[in-house]
Amino acid sequence: MAHSKLVLLVSISLLTAVAAVPAAATPQMIKQAKDAGFPAQNCQYCHVPAVPKKDGFKPDVDLNERGKWLLSEKEKQNAKDVNPQWLKNYTGK
Ligand code: HEC
Repeated sequence: MAHSKLVLLVSISLLTAVAAVPAAATPQMIKQAKDAGFPAQNCQYCHVPAVPKKDGFKPDVDLNERGKWLLSEKEKQNAKDVNPQWLKNYTGK
């Protein structure tokens, strides 16, 4: 009884972990940028590789100027997550 409950709990948390990865960072960023009126078509709007990976992600290498700027804003504003809306204040290209 107790055992099957544990198995259930573990599988639920595994499922959530798997589901959380794509939902958290990726296409959502593009959507948020688009909703804010920016012409984001793909990951390279903010990233150097066409499909950035979470494993071994290095902001210095994997983010382009725009991505790095967003990350520096996150630090400046002490925010929990990057918000593509900030690009309104981005003066680079
Ligand atoms: C509007 C800009 C923007 C777009 C578009 C964007 N990203 Fe990102 N991405 C960022 C920034 C900025 C970070 C650094 C976030 C941080 O460390 O808080 C990041 C971080 C990541 C990371 C690092 C790990 C993580 O999840 O925090 C991955 C993986 C990633 N992006 C994948 C993608 C993929 C795949 C796409 C395209 C489907 C994409 N991103 C589109 C700005 C963007």
